[in-house]
Order: sequence, then C-alpha cells, then structure tokens
Amino acid sequence: NNQGLIRCFSFFIKGHFDEEVFYLKNCVVILAAGDGKRMKSEKPKVLCEVLFQPMLRWVINACEKSEAGDICIVKGKGAEQIDAFLEGKYQTVMQQERLGTGHAVMQAVDFIKEHVGGHLLVLCGDAPFVDEMTIREAYQQHIAQKNSATVITAELDEPKGYGRMLRADDSIIGIVEEKDATDREKMIKEVNSGAYWFCIEDMLAVADRLTNDNNQKEYYLTQFVPLLIAAGKRVGGFRAATDHIVLGANDRAGLLNLNRIAAEKIIQKHMANGVSFLSTDGVLIMPEVTIGQDTVILPGTILKGNTKIGNGSVIGPNSLVEDSVIGNDTVFNASQCYQSKIHDHVKIGPFCHIRPNSEILDHVKIGDFVEVKNSTIGEYTAVSHLTYVGDSDVGKNVNFGCGVVTVNYDGVNKHRSVIEDNAFIGCNTNLVSPVRIGNGAYTAAGSTITEDVPADALGIARARQTNKEGFAAKKLEGRKRKL
Ligand code: UD1
Ligand code: CA
Repeated sequence: NNQGLIRCFSFFIKGHFDEEVFYLKNCVVILAAGDGKRMKSEKPKVLCEVLFQPMLRWVINACEKSEAGDICIVKGKGAEQIDAFLEGKYQTVMQQERLGTGHAVMQAVDFIKEHVGGHLLVLCGDAPFVDEMTIREAYQQHIAQKNSATVITAELDEPKGYGRMLRADDSIIGIVEEKDATDREKMIKEVNSGAYWFCIEDMLAVADRLTNDNNQKEYYLTQFVPLLIAAGKRVGGFRAATDHIVLGANDRAGLLNLNRIAAEKIIQKHMANGVSFLSTDGVLIMPEVTIGQDTVILPGTILKGNTKIGNGSVIGPNSLVEDSVIGNDTVFNASQCYQSKIHDHVKIGPFCHIRPNSEILDHVKIGDFVEVKNSTIGEYTAVSHLTYVGDSDVGKNVNFGCGVVTVNYDGVNKHRSVIEDNAFIGCNTNLVSPVRIGNGAYTAAGSTITEDVPADALGIARARQTNKEGFAAKKLEGRKRKL
C-alpha cells in the first residue's frame, strides 16, 4: 500500500542521504531591500554588478552550491527589476518600509514557518563573496554546538561601520552596532558579517519580542542574540576563513574594489590550475569559466558566462569570449566570440567577430575582419580576410578569397547556403543565399552567385570585360590642360 511504500522510500533516502534529508527542511532568506542611494543608480543596489553579474546572483549561487535550502528574497525599492531578474524562479516578499534587518527577515515569516523543524540561513544580498564553504561549515558548527543561532563573523583591521561581536568564551552574548557602541566596544575587531544560521523553532518563539529600541530606531536582526539568550538558548559565532565575506559596496568605488578582489581571486585560482598570465591588466574572468593548463591569457581578455577553454591555447590580447567553448592549441587573437564553439588548432584573428551559434572545426584559419554567424566551418578551411559568413554550412578545406559575402538576408527572411568541401570562393564573391557551391567548385572573383554551382565547375557571374581603345588617353589630355 501507499503508506508502506512511502515508509520504504523514506528509509531508503534516510539510509543513503542522511545529511540531505536534514537539509531539505532548511531555508534561506536573502535581504535585498536596500536602496543604495550612494550608488546613484536606477537599479536597486543588489542588482549592481561585480564581474558582470548582479551581487544578488553571487549570493544566490553560493546558496545553491551549498544546497542551503529553499530561497526567499526580501525586496524593496526596485522590486519590479528584482522580479525581472529572478524570472519567477524564486519566492519573494516585499518590505514596504525599510525598518531594519529584523523587520526585513520577518516579512518572510510565512515562508520561514513552512520550514519549522529546520534551520534558516539569512544572507545580505549586497555581500557577494559569501561562499559555499563558509555556509556549509557554519551550518556544521551550528548543528554540532546545538546553537539556536550562529553568527558568521570576520576579523577586520578596520571594523568601522560593522556590528561588533560581544563574546564570552566560545559563545556570543551580543552584537553592538557601530552607532550604539561605546569606545571600548568600537575597538573589537571581530564583526558581524550579516550572515546567520537560526534554528527556526527557537527563532519564531522569540520573534514577537523584537523592538526598535536603539539609536537608529530600527528592528535589528541582531537583537535575536539577546532574545535567544534570555530564553536560555545558546548563540555561537563562526569565524569565516576570509574577511572578504563581509565586503559589500555602498558606492561605485566600493563596486570597483569588489571587482578587483573578485578578478584577482579568480586569476589566482586559474594560475593554481596551470594557466599563465603575463600580466593581469584588464583581465576579467567570470567565476564559472574553466581554462585548461598551459593556456596563456594575454592582457585585456574578458571571459564571460559559461565559457570553457582547453589546454595550450593563447587567448588575447584584447579579446572577449562569452558562453563559448574554445579547444586546445587554438590561438584567439584580439577577437570576440559569443555562444559558439571553436575546436582545436584553430587560428582566429586579429579582429574577428564570431557571432552566436557558430562552430569552427579543427585547423581552421579565420583572419582579419571576418564575421561568422550561425555557421559551421569545416576542418582546414581558410577564411583569411574581410569576409562575412552568415547562416552557412561550409565544408572542409574550403578557401575563401578576400572580401566574400554571404548575402543571407533579403530584407524579410534569412536563407542558408552550403559550400561543400574543397570549394574555392574567388575574391569579392557574393553568394546570394540560398545557394550551394559543389565539392571542389570555383567561383570567379567578383561574381554575384545566385544559382548553385555544381561540383568541380567554375561559376562566373559578372559582365565580360571590354576595353575601349584610346578612351583614357583623350581624358588624360583634358586633365593635363588644367595643370
Ligand atoms: C548590518 C548588521 C551589522 C553587520 C552588517 C554587515 C544589523 C542591525 N546590523 O548592518 O551588525 O555588521 O549588517 O554588513 O543587522 N536590509 C533590508 N531591509 C532593511 C534593512 C536592511 O533589506 O530594512 C538589507 C540591506 O539591503 C542589506 C542588509 O539588509 O542587504 C544589511 O543592511 P544594512 O543596512 O547594510 O545593515 P548595516 O547597518 O550595515
Ligand atoms: Ca551594510
């Protein structure tokens, strides 16, 4: 029967994935209602970007990688923009008035109640460097110490502006905000990162005792520390391995600082994996990018999105690759590539534009001022200069002369052309799509090809040349008289 089946199934899960079962009840509230006036932006602060992705994306990624639990985002100013960014993939609640971090978390109380029996992770949407390890290790300590709350902390040389941790032995007895702190308390260097694990049951039991009785007249989330202690519970502190986890940005300079830190950290990771950088000037690599060993990244290289680069390739200088795969021993010089795949031993550039949905096979050479879009280019094919290949399937060992254009758009529709293996496309050929150039066929330089060219044939589509004897000499006399 059903009951037996469910019991049998849950035994199976428990037996094999004990920890995961525990995690299933947990949840995350991300505070994202800050307005960030000093950014001088139309966007809410959490959508300001570090390495091309909103700070909120960094925080969500860390949550998902750590499998911390279901996510709910507290939004405020710019809520429509946050909704558009989230694409309905996450729950959200609205904080109409910005009455403090405690008030913000409590906007999600219904969501939190659905997870009674589990634990709540609170994160700030504007502290992008909180990471998977910190979230997991803090959780393990939270459970091991049987804490009702565990505050994730960091040690800062300049703790100004942050809440200071008040400790007794290995437990936390309070957090005092800069604006409420005495001079002695201001000397404490251990600060509240703004990230916490809470036991949901314990937290909800004291939640209605939150007050705004402080210098900022705000409902502080940190007030849960004394409230839980008063209820006879334990609060712990988890000191993060890196102080970067507390960093946020209040203005554009702060954002630049976060970009520098992120870029540097990612470059360090790749160097540890055997990637070379002759200089890191202008090198920006997004977190998900992978690069194989012995690849060299030259200055001014930007690698975005889900890009994968193989071994022994040279990328840059001044190149941009987005959501693309580049193989092994390929040279990608001063060019741009989007949503495409470039295989091994390929030479690209300088000054090529590889547009989405293109595939460039082994040993291809694509030279200066060539644009490729939505096309495949077969092995050993050369497209060396000043050419546009759009919506085309190009075979192996094809040679494109200088200045070839696939005329793929008639003003209403796009059409595909096929250029078979070993074809030789003369300089300044227009291939008016749809058209097929057969295996080994030639097109004469300057032809506008509108009909298929059969295999091994020569297609000529231009007016035959006539020479008018003496014509130029007469003109020249006239021109000389003006001297
Ligand atoms: C808070 C902590 C402080 C900690 C610091 C870490 C409190 C009272 N203080 O201070 O101990 O060192 O974070 O950065 O919690 N937010 C809302 N709604 C609000 C208020 C804030 O969503 O009503 C969001 C903000 O957008 C931000 C986060 O909560 O993402 C933290 O708020 P912020 O005002 O920056 O808190 P701090 O005063 O810096
Ligand atoms: Ca802050």
